[in-house]
Amino acid sequence: MRGTGAGRYGEGMFRPEETGEAGRIDLGALAYDEVSAARLATLGAGPGWNCLDVGAGTGTLARWLLESAGVTTVLAVDRDTRFLTAHGTPGLSALSADITAPDFDPGRFQLVHARFVLMHLRSWRRMIAKLVSLVAPDGVLVLSDAVDLTSAAALSTPYTTVMRAMWQALRETIGTDISWVADYPQLLHEEGLCEVAAEIHVPPLVPGSAISRFWADTWDRARGAVLATGRVDEAQLERAVHDLSSPGCAGLSPGMLTAWGWRTEEAARDHHF
Ligand SMILES: C[S@@+](CC[C@H](N)C(=O)[O-])C[C@H]1O[C@@H](n2cnc3c(N)ncnc32)[C@H](O)[C@@H]1O
Repeated sequence: MRGTGAGRYGEGMFRPEETGEAGRIDLGALAYDEVSAARLATLGAGPGWNCLDVGAGTGTLARWLLESAGVTTVLAVDRDTRFLTAHGTPGLSALSADITAPDFDPGRFQLVHARFVLMHLRSWRRMIAKLVSLVAPDGVLVLSDAVDLTSAAALSTPYTTVMRAMWQALRETIGTDISWVADYPQLLHEEGLCEVAAEIHVPPLVPGSAISRFWADTWDRARGAVLATGRVDEAQLERAVHDLSSPGCAGLSPGMLTAWGWRTEEAARDHHF
């Protein structure tokens, strides 16, 4: 059965060596890159910036930073860099590393960015502090993770039932937890960052869209663990996949919360970074 394995992200589930995993990450990127790029541009990403993208996946944003924003360098870090090295983009360095390792210390950067990474880490709280410490004075930390705006009382449809089962399955296997993501602004403030702010984007679930295909593919890869929750059976899962590709789906996709904050010289001193 597909996707029952426990372990960290990329071990039991979402393994990079599985056929099509790069395509699944790219679908997520396609759904959100425009929003992420617009935010990074507004924050001033451009020439002279040395950037760090952790959990960089297939590197779509790392390449955008270099090719469109014109930043000077991007260090793209991932536990598995096979999808990052394919393009040979000038200015892009790929580093294979576990960002949770105590000795992970790649330097200081004008921009430190992580999207859809910390939510999958059991040590997310410690990792926020760690990533803050990698921001150079006058640099910015930009973190994006998933939020699900449907409430526990939301109407039960095949789509909402499978989505709830998926979050439970990811929590029980990888340790994925999005319950704290809405606290990002407060958490970044507590870390001593300045001018902290946040925004949310929820992509519409249009049949055939990148986000609809991303969820169908993610459910398929997590199929075993989703079924093991006991919340859904094969027939309900098939129905939810069918609904996702039909005009009448009428579901609300989980969205992306992006939070950012600046590290000033003063804050760095006060927090003994
Ligand atoms: C959902 S993907 C997001 C990829 C990319 N940030 C994006 O938004 O398109 C999560 C990425 O984080 C990486 N990752 C997960 N845990 C990691 C860890 N402990 N150290 C380094 N990378 C990790 C995975 O290998 C994967 O490429």
